[in-house]
Amino acid sequence: RTLAAFALAAASTLMVGLANAADEPIVIKFSHVVAENTPKGKMANKFKELVAERMGDRVVVEVYPNSQLFGDDNVLEAMQLGDVQLAAPALSKFGRYTDKLALFDLPFLFENLDAVDRFQQSEAGQKLLSSMEKKGLIGLGYLHSGLKQFSSNKPLHVPEDAAGMKFRIMSSDVLEAQFEAIDAIPLKKPFSEVFTLLQTKAIDGQESPWSNTYTKKFYEVQPYITESNHGLLDYMVVTSAEFWMDLPDDLREPLKAALDESIAYGNQIARDKANQDRQAIIDSNRTEIIELTPEERAQWVKAMKPVWKQFEKEIGADLIDAAYASNQ
Ligand code: LMR
Repeated sequence: RTLAAFALAAASTLMVGLANAADEPIVIKFSHVVAENTPKGKMANKFKELVAERMGDRVVVEVYPNSQLFGDDNVLEAMQLGDVQLAAPALSKFGRYTDKLALFDLPFLFENLDAVDRFQQSEAGQKLLSSMEKKGLIGLGYLHSGLKQFSSNKPLHVPEDAAGMKFRIMSSDVLEAQFEAIDAIPLKKPFSEVFTLLQTKAIDGQESPWSNTYTKKFYEVQPYITESNHGLLDYMVVTSAEFWMDLPDDLREPLKAALDESIAYGNQIARDKANQDRQAIIDSNRTEIIELTPEERAQWVKAMKPVWKQFEKEIGADLIDAAYASNQ
């Protein structure tokens, strides 16, 4: 065979290879840390389902729940390296990438999820979705988990009851300051370790929305839950800018639409499950639910609210005012 024939054969092998590569579906790995039966778990599975239905020949979504693939301490780095394409860490976990999202951790900022919705959908709230673009992360939307409760191995009625107790917190400086404000001892630990830390009494308490306390069985190893609704656990669904911008143009839009629908679905689940999981915990008789009187609640607010001032510079007073105003 002549050199030209060799070259032709080699070129056609290459072409076939390229064509195969082009036919391979794009894989989107979605990694998260919670159970499947939670707002985030259900949102992720819904997204997988919608994508399979609408563009299954071109895109495959693989969901990895329960910290199977990555924990929240390394998922964002993995995303920047291209090892995972979608994640929805708690807003408390972006401190290495932006100061602004610490806003959502301020204690007693939002009265309910309607106020959270109003703020997140406002111009200021939407702008925060792009606050990490310089770091290569794009926010595609907010997702609710819900308002948090304290659980502990001692009854907590007033802030003094928590003095000296060890609480697991997410990796957030605001949450650290929140517990220091009541003379408790905050410990930043991964979500996957919380149950064992509670069970072995290495820590005394933690804070979570009802759905995480229920699905991860924290209530089985915590005799008291104080219905404090003192803070918010919400998520930002994020992707890497590089991955998102490299997607074929005709896929980006339908993927975003499927994501928006899954988020709306997850947000509804968050509202429904807060009541259902609370009730399931009550029905278990494993733990006592402590409801705060208005006077007791006012004491928690008074003790924790100075944290706002501590972080005002980093977050921005305007942003805090805008978020607080969404309660009306
Ligand atoms: C936590 O670490 O407590 C939460 O961020 C877990 C989650 O994703 O809901």
